[in-house]
Amino acid sequence: MELKINGRVVKVDAPADMPLLWVLRDLLGMTGTKYGCGMAQCGACTVQVDGVATRSCVMPAAALAGKEITTIEGLADGDTLHAVQQAWLDLDVVQCGYCQSGQILGAAALLKSNPKPSDADIDAAMNGNLCRCATYPRIRAAIHAAAAKLA
Ligand code: FES
Ligand code: FES
Repeated sequence: MELKINGRVVKVDAPADMPLLWVLRDLLGMTGTKYGCGMAQCGACTVQVDGVATRSCVMPAAALAGKEITTIEGLADGDTLHAVQQAWLDLDVVQCGYCQSGQILGAAALLKSNPKPSDADIDAAMNGNLCRCATYPRIRAAIHAAAAKLA
């Protein structure tokens, strides 16, 4: 199958029902996208498909022909970090880091659809991205900081 990942067309030989997560990690060596639950419950595997936050662990790669897939490896513009990534650094959001690529992709998708989210908007949108280190207050603050930068 042919997939468009981070602006590049890549060809992969994968079973039709293989979730995107495993195409990324096992076939393409793109390990920034993490495996948590494997059942759309934790958000660790979040990528963007056409700009929308998507759980890659339950998304068959074969369903994504012609769609734009963005992973953590492709969010920055060359050496320039995405505003969300920069805010994450500035506010030192990360603790262990395991959930964070999913959090960042989710946050960037939220700001695309809602450039000035309230606390309630953030909590609703990020609700499915679990963080065992409980970095939630810093995630919320960093989303506000990124929104201000993008305004
Ligand atoms: S690994 Fe996909 S939502 Fe948990
Ligand atoms: S930073 Fe450790 S699980 Fe979120």
